[in-house]
Amino acid sequence: MALSAADKYNVKEFWEKLGENTNVYGTEALVRTFLSFPETKTYFAHFDLSSGSRQVQAHGKKLADALTLAVSHLDDLPAALSSLSDLHAHKLKVDPINFKYLSHCLLVTLARHHPGNMNPEVHASLDKFLSYVSNILTSKYR
Ligand code: HEM
Repeated sequence: MALSAADKYNVKEFWEKLGENTNVYGTEALVRTFLSFPETKTYFAHFDLSSGSRQVQAHGKKLADALTLAVSHLDDLPAALSSLSDLHAHKLKVDPINFKYLSHCLLVTLARHHPGNMNPEVHASLDKFLSYVSNILTSKYR
């Protein structure tokens, strides 16, 4: 599952172009996930799930910041995401299928806002990156 040098380059280059907007994209991807795949809402039953809610926006920022951190640790991702992996597997017990839904919605959101930067190579590298992050966050799920 390791990313190639070209994947790492593509992901880093793309992420730099997102600038200050990552929290907006994180929130949009989260809301899309709730709306397109309603079963994911079960994990956020304690949230006010309207798209403008402070909880959803705060979580969208946390999601985006975690991904930005991951982009800066592409060579040691399992270690960098270890505590998040414990949280999602042991405490939250997030069913791994939900990571596919969220990753899909992240890709759609990023492509919608940055169509010119999402060529097929970048698309593939981002997909591999999100799969890698998801694999790490679900690796302790039993
Ligand atoms: C790319 C994949 C994901 C990343 C990077 C990610 C990241 C995070 C982060 C950074 C937090 C906050 C941890 C903290 O406050 O210390 C969190 C919490 C949480 N995540 Fe995820 N997450 C991902 C996928 C998912 C999925 C697929 C679900 C379920 C559908 C999920 C459900 C939750 C829940 C329920 C919380 C706790 C929210 C709360 O009560 O405040 N996550 N996640």
